[in-house]
Amino acid sequence: MERGAAFWNRQRRAPLYEALINHARRRPHPFHVPGHKMGRSFDQEGKDLFQSLLAIDLTEISGLDDLHQPEGVIAEAQALAAEAFGAEETRFLVGGTTAGNLALVLAVCRPGEKIIVQRNCHKSVYHGIMLARAVPVFVVPAIDPVTGVAAGLRREDVERALNLHPDAKAVFLTNPTYYGMGIDLAKMAAVVHRFGIPLLVDEAHGSHYGFHPELPQSAMRCGADASVQSTHKTGVAMTMCAMLHLKGERIDRSRLYQALGMIQSSSPSYPLMASLDLARRHMLTEGTQELERVLALMKRLRERIATLPWLLFPELAENSVYTTLDPLKLMLCLRTSSLSGFELKQVLERHDIYPELAAPDHVLLASSTGTCPEDVERVWQVLERLAPPSAGSANLLARTGAVLSSSFVREQVMAMHEALASRRIAVPLEEAEGRIAAEMVIPYPPGIPLLVPGERIDAQVLQRLVFMRDQKLHAHGVHDPDLATIQIVT
Ligand SMILES: Cc1ncc(COP(=O)(O)O)c(C=O)c1O
Repeated sequence: MERGAAFWNRQRRAPLYEALINHARRRPHPFHVPGHKMGRSFDQEGKDLFQSLLAIDLTEISGLDDLHQPEGVIAEAQALAAEAFGAEETRFLVGGTTAGNLALVLAVCRPGEKIIVQRNCHKSVYHGIMLARAVPVFVVPAIDPVTGVAAGLRREDVERALNLHPDAKAVFLTNPTYYGMGIDLAKMAAVVHRFGIPLLVDEAHGSHYGFHPELPQSAMRCGADASVQSTHKTGVAMTMCAMLHLKGERIDRSRLYQALGMIQSSSPSYPLMASLDLARRHMLTEGTQELERVLALMKRLRERIATLPWLLFPELAENSVYTTLDPLKLMLCLRTSSLSGFELKQVLERHDIYPELAAPDHVLLASSTGTCPEDVERVWQVLERLAPPSAGSANLLARTGAVLSSSFVREQVMAMHEALASRRIAVPLEEAEGRIAAEMVIPYPPGIPLLVPGERIDAQVLQRLVFMRDQKLHAHGVHDPDLATIQIVT
């Protein structure tokens, strides 16, 4: 795409950040919240570190606009983001992709209306469905036979769901997955649009997509109607910062903005919003070069790891169940039964390397434009020196795909929001078979629910819950963090 001088003149600006800095420089007398008054009153020890951010930790005063009714510098910053990310309109989110996902479901579904969703979607999509009192039509993703993890949806499965449920209000997909696997979104968008409904994409892990020729194209550029990106995950914004991108007429924007107004704080953080403004500028002005550097680093690391017989990593092939793969994600799959993913994570951490996620049979490394050669070298040094344990096949039951990324549809006995609101008791896990779940069990990370309220607890899911309990896996959503008991509907 040709980008002229006018484009670059605009994109080199950061209007929200500039407004904050200009305000702080005037040394104003703040008779407004927050109470630290631009850092004048703050914990002494923390002050040194926090001071520069506190000076721009401002609020909706004259000249600084209002996230909930943007007309000034926030509107300008969002318009620049829309231009940069190929959207018609972009909204800044200070509650992560979580906020965008919740708002999207609330915007497209009224109580009782259907939405077609990927079963291995993030818990925020489920939460949106519960809040909207919508009816999910789950579509089971393809399982990658190499790694055992759930990947994206097949077009024919979505088409079947659309034919069976022509009254569905939207299709909500995750692309790419936590592991960086993706589908041909342009083709999927064409299928969904044939049915006249919007394609919503949870693109939490794809804010860098489209900014380098070796990276897949973004959801916006593939024809999605909405995409939500955690700019804090694969971009360089601060934690909790995300963007909601929109295109076309299929989503009622006034309903969407109303939902966002209910979900997001009425006091959104200005440093966070400014970091979104800067992250957009950074990605456009320096991102491609930095991506070039890190892509080369990760390629070299892969080549080296390919020489280790006890490890494998996903590679895009002709017969892969996914059609795109994020080269910045490196999933280290163990081809040995004598070392678990959790143990490998411990080894790495002993060497000050902190992975994104560990599971029974793999570890996930997430790189970004911030990854430097020393980080990558360190990983290689540790892996190279690890005496390869005797090769053997990993326990299949322990595969993450079977345990952490739930890809099975179970009998939904009652609506999720009804089960959530119903009377409940806690029973030992072993006594729960056949009962109806009253709570969610969400292995974290990756945050994909294994069991949702209203579902029948069958032998298959019980086996996985017992596995989680025995392996002491971390779960969200549960009343009992040890998973000795589970809440069921009485
Ligand atoms: C696929 C997916 N969607 C949404 C989210 C939520 O994003 P955030 O943490 O920005 O709210 C996550 C977080 O891990 C995720 O993995």
